[in-house]
Amino acid sequence: MLNIALFGPPGAGKGTQSEYLVKRFNLFYISTGDLLRREMEAGSKLGEEARGIIASGGLVSDEIIVQIIEKTITENPQASGFLFDGFPRTFVQAYILDGLMIKLNTSLNCLINLQIPEDLSVSRLLKRGETSGRLDDNETVIRNRLREYHEKTLPVLRFYQDKGQCHDIDGTRTVEEVRADIVRILERELEKNLFNLVLFGYPGSGRGSQGLALAKKFGLEYIATGRMLDEEIRKCSDIGRAVTAHYESGHLVPDEIVVRLIERKLEQSGGARGFIFKGFPRTLVQSYILDGLLRKHGWGISKVIDIEVPTLELIRRLDARSHTERRMPYDSSTARIVKRLQEHETKTIPVIGKYKAHREVVTVDGTGTFEQVFQRLSLEVEAGIHTTR
Ligand code: AP5
Ligand code: MG
Repeated sequence: MLNIALFGPPGAGKGTQSEYLVKRFNLFYISTGDLLRREMEAGSKLGEEARGIIASGGLVSDEIIVQIIEKTITENPQASGFLFDGFPRTFVQAYILDGLMIKLNTSLNCLINLQIPEDLSVSRLLKRGETSGRLDDNETVIRNRLREYHEKTLPVLRFYQDKGQCHDIDGTRTVEEVRADIVRILERELEKNLFNLVLFGYPGSGRGSQGLALAKKFGLEYIATGRMLDEEIRKCSDIGRAVTAHYESGHLVPDEIVVRLIERKLEQSGGARGFIFKGFPRTLVQSYILDGLLRKHGWGISKVIDIEVPTLELIRRLDARSHTERRMPYDSSTARIVKRLQEHETKTIPVIGKYKAHREVVTVDGTGTFEQVFQRLSLEVEAGIHTTR
């Protein structure tokens, strides 16, 4: 997701720049000014409450702003990013925005501060006033809006400066020059977006070998908890010994162990372009853990893919593998194979269900040759990377 806020005094060009940016970056546009004008036109209670304040150039209450924003955001859960124009405008609203982003399981990338001197605000808005029909585009009200801006809105900048999220831009230049600067900043933000894929599938669906190949092809970090655990066994570490005991009983390894390993991996992979998670999350608890682990770094899940293979084919594949060198400790007997399939059925299928309730889960046909499946998955990953960056 790319979430940005356009900031600046009246007439700085927030609305003008937004028009281009929402199209170019496919963002959902939220202008509190526009929303309030719409409420006024509709003659709603909110609109009537706001009318007098807007006409005088004051700021409407934070309560009204929360109501109109909340209404808009929850009506559009599928948006791939938000562009806020004229919000946040008070210190309180900066916290409100934080809260809204958390609710949507995302965060604000940055705030773009368009700077212009007062006299330019006035001259631009007076000119706009000739045709805009806006009740607040006259000199007395413009001066009031500017006073409100200096008193209540400007202090909001510190909130973002302290977090290193504020970009100052000279807004006195042409529309195109200002636009080019903003685009450059947003492209840099997009590059920072990681592509994080969760790959599901029954044991034997090919998710392991496919995940590894996908990671290699797209330069992503492969996080397979099974492999990480095996590595600990090989190293004969304390964790490894504990894991062996759990494997032998056919049960899942306790979350504490897995979490520690993933945490370490995420911390050590500075500069990664994204992650492919395979074999995690396997339970609902783990899916919450993954959200938390990613959030700690300001990341989230970009895409969820479920590789689908008919059950009989799965059993055939797992049985075939049990006769080869690639045999896993847990597919040495039919009873264990069945137990693994059952674990997936009872514990992991609900996790996929949870993702399905909140977002799209792409199902990919896992039958056919490795190459065929790889092709199908690659297309999905490419599309995902394209929308993430
Ligand atoms: P709002 O609608 O947000 O108005 P504003 O902040 O005063 O900003 P403007 O829309 O006037 O300016 P803009 O920066 O969008 O400039 P534009 O691109 O149009 O809010 C209105 C009122 O609603 C507030 O006063 C308040 O009462 C209330 N409100 C809204 N949000 C609120 C909130 N969060 N909390 C509380 N109250 C809230 O450009 C202006 C003109 O300049 C245009 O004619 C344009 O063509 C021209 N122009 C733009 N860029 C350039 C350029 N680079 N060169 C030359 N001309 C340019
Ligand atoms: Mg505007």
